[in-house]
Amino acid sequence: MTGDDPLEEAEQGEPLPDGGAAGADDVALDPWGSSSVSDYRKLFEEFGIEEFDEVLEDVPNPHYLMRRGVIFGHRDYRPVAEALQNDEPAAVLSGFMPTGDPHIGHKLVFDEIIWHQQQGADAYALIADLEANSARGMRWDEIDEHARDYLLSLLALGFDPEEGELYRQSENRELQDLAFELGAEANFSELQAIYGFDGETDVSHMQSVVTQMADILYPQLEEPKPTVIPVGPDQDPHVRLARDLAERMRFFKVSEAYASFELEPVERALVEEFYERLDPAEFDDDTLRCVYVAEALEEAPLSELGVAADILDSVLTKLNEAGMEPIRPRTRFSDRRATEEAFDALIDAIEGEKRVYENHVDAFEIDHDEAEELARQVEVDTGGYGFRPPSSIYHRFMTGLTGGKMSSSIPASHISLLDDPEDGYNKVKSATTGGRETAEEQREKGGKADECPVYELYAYLLAGDDDEFAKRVYDECVGGERLCGDCKEQAAQLMREFLEDHQEKRDEVEELLEAAEIELESPRRR
Ligand code: TRP
Ligand code: SF4
Repeated sequence: MTGDDPLEEAEQGEPLPDGGAAGADDVALDPWGSSSVSDYRKLFEEFGIEEFDEVLEDVPNPHYLMRRGVIFGHRDYRPVAEALQNDEPAAVLSGFMPTGDPHIGHKLVFDEIIWHQQQGADAYALIADLEANSARGMRWDEIDEHARDYLLSLLALGFDPEEGELYRQSENRELQDLAFELGAEANFSELQAIYGFDGETDVSHMQSVVTQMADILYPQLEEPKPTVIPVGPDQDPHVRLARDLAERMRFFKVSEAYASFELEPVERALVEEFYERLDPAEFDDDTLRCVYVAEALEEAPLSELGVAADILDSVLTKLNEAGMEPIRPRTRFSDRRATEEAFDALIDAIEGEKRVYENHVDAFEIDHDEAEELARQVEVDTGGYGFRPPSSIYHRFMTGLTGGKMSSSIPASHISLLDDPEDGYNKVKSATTGGRETAEEQREKGGKADECPVYELYAYLLAGDDDEFAKRVYDECVGGERLCGDCKEQAAQLMREFLEDHQEKRDEVEELLEAAEIELESPRRR
């Protein structure tokens, strides 16, 4: 697998109206490949990423990237938004593969980390040097040089290294220990299915995957807390695996049950329906028992039940085997990987009526949310991590200035944060636009701001926090009052100023970086 950084994302092609870029492979999300996101809607429908707009109202002082839809999607971001709102512990973490210069695409992620830090989250930024070495074959001296550049830009943009934590994967022993533990919960077939690994994939590359899993859970080592991972959607496979592993590491699983036996979710829904429908007063001793529910189920026509025959069979078997056992809703704590001590502590901690079985405890007076909290607390108190599933937010990829993909291998297509400000100016001046053939036509029909890489520069970066400015550019463009020549001149000047200012700040934070607790020179050779 080749490919470069997330900018390699899109295949060459016509820009799409959604601000994304067209591509050949529009389904797979491959963190090391050159697969593309041609249709952001697919991410919602096929991968279960949720629309960011739906949580926006719960976010205190949302960042402009959130307000403008650049951050378009998320997984489970609500707990993070709520924690920020209530001044409760929360964390943000992202990682950077030091394979080239930091560019304006990375700036989105830097800004996202910094914003969360300013809202009170514990902030972490890491250098994915193991991944750069194993997945991209970068040499350690190259890695050191790029790592320094990423870190200087991050600090220049406002990351506070005293409040937050910076590390490189190769130098973080705790991280490697966690990676080793997580590796015991994942196997080769799984990595094969997720990442397309095969017999040729080297072991170090696999190790870099478990390392990334550890990165994602690292902010929770001291205590569980809502954690957001801001990344491009190409990283979603990593996020999903990390969410799975977080769950597999848990001591207990909390679920709903109706009797001593286990039910699959569809089966449970069926039993629940009959539990609600049947009146205990109609039975012998005023108690609804398993066999009675089985009888009622057998009498109901299959078409009314809305489940397949084999599911019905399975439920009936379970109910009949339980016989005269009463049906009663309960919250179940199942033992997943708890120690004996932890299981005993859980039993003690459950208040009210409870029933203890070999591998689970049923509680009759605790609701699901209370049970989740209790299970986590007992786990943490008895030496477990109690991980919360990590959340993520996803930003759109920028369209290249030359039209197709923004790619670090096509210098004119992107702007590096290290570009000479004059070069930055020139790149913007020669960018393609969403403008019309002639000025006349532009005045008449308006420009296509939605398909214009220059407009993207305004919205993603140049307009900064000033929504009115971004909107004015848009409205003037589509209204035909703005012509591309002037528009690009303005953008180019802003870009020059931004680069001058940013590079000046990079010089100023040199000392801050030297003082920060991160290894800048790898002792590794080659
Ligand atoms: N795999 C990421 C990339 O290709 C880098 C990375 C490593 C990362 N660890 C991470 C990103 C943890 C987010 C969180 O750029
Ligand atoms: Fe793009 Fe500006 Fe031209 Fe509109 S006027 S198409 S925003 S360059």
